[in-house]
Amino acid sequence: MRCAVISRKFDLRAYYGKALAQIADRIESVDHPVTDGAEAVRIALAWHPHADAFERYPNLKAVCTIGAGADNVLACPSLPSDVHVVRVVDPGQAQMMAGFVTWHVIWHQRKFATFMQHQRDRIWQRLEQRPASTVPVAILGYGKIGERVATHLTGLGFPVKAWSRTPKPMAPDVQGFHGRDGLFAMLAETEVLVNLLPLTPETRGLLNRDVFAAMKPGGYLIQTGRGEQMVEADFLSALESGQLSGASLDVFAVEPLPTDHVFWHHPKIVMTPHDACDVSFAAVADTLVATAAAIEAGQRPPHAVDRSRGY
Ligand SMILES: NC(=O)c1ccc[n+]([C@@H]2O[C@H](COP(=O)([O-])OP(=O)(O)OC[C@H]3O[C@@H](n4cnc5c(N)ncnc54)[C@H](OP(=O)(O)O)[C@@H]3O)[C@@H](O)[C@H]2O)c1
Repeated sequence: MRCAVISRKFDLRAYYGKALAQIADRIESVDHPVTDGAEAVRIALAWHPHADAFERYPNLKAVCTIGAGADNVLACPSLPSDVHVVRVVDPGQAQMMAGFVTWHVIWHQRKFATFMQHQRDRIWQRLEQRPASTVPVAILGYGKIGERVATHLTGLGFPVKAWSRTPKPMAPDVQGFHGRDGLFAMLAETEVLVNLLPLTPETRGLLNRDVFAAMKPGGYLIQTGRGEQMVEADFLSALESGQLSGASLDVFAVEPLPTDHVFWHHPKIVMTPHDACDVSFAAVADTLVATAAAIEAGQRPPHAVDRSRGY
């Protein structure tokens, strides 16, 4: 099956070259814009596609992303309404995220920012330490990744709460919340807030002054969802007032983050360049093969997002 490879951000075909070569007998991948035989293109592999990218492919049936979030493909104005959008679900990615989030929770719990400052100042000073059981963590989003993160943290003794759109069964020791009222009930008991929500109209701007104010004073934010979900001015005010004692930021409204942005040198912020975790090349290749097989059989591909709810 012919697959157009589309990205205005980086050379997707070069990056995934090895994985695409391994499935070349099933998937013929061709760089966008496909000039010869565009009507034969039935699937696409896309990440931040050009606004008019999909106008060229009249027989397109499915677009696969290279990540867990499909927001950048769903936002493409030329995406036809009847095309499936498929995301990658990779347990290895969820595990990598669990390690990343855990590192930042412990960074806050064990006061590593203070230790690093003391090392720079050559100060030998033990700090009063708190057991994990006294540091309540809440996770926004209890999907494939949020659930993995939650069980990782309960295993280390942190009290864990999780928030989803709909009520759902929770893993042992994870307390579930849903809906707007559920969010604020959860925040009242939250010291560390981990964002693992997909970007949708409902979640855009969700990390705002009301949410920060509802947390326990001196709380900590781990922002690993999407940058557009955070209101930067409200976040900076919460840091300024001490309502938030610090934050770990992996995602930003504008990426790459402009070099003159205040986040770069803010003393209470730890930053990574949207690198919390990655899907494996094999998972991307498997997603393409499974999508092609479903399209050939006239079926809905596995992990196709629900376009009406946006994730
Ligand atoms: N920084 C990174 O490197 C990185 C890497 C991977 C993923 N991510 C982010 O993590 C997100 C989650 O990935 P995933 O695979 O776990 O997604 P998922 O399996 O689709 O789970 C999404 C979760 O968010 C909940 N949710 C969606 N809209 C909501 C709303 N309006 N209110 C409350 N809860 C809502 C869902 O609730 P229901 O269970 O009720 O449906 C579900 O629990 C991605 O979309 C992406 O933004 C970031």
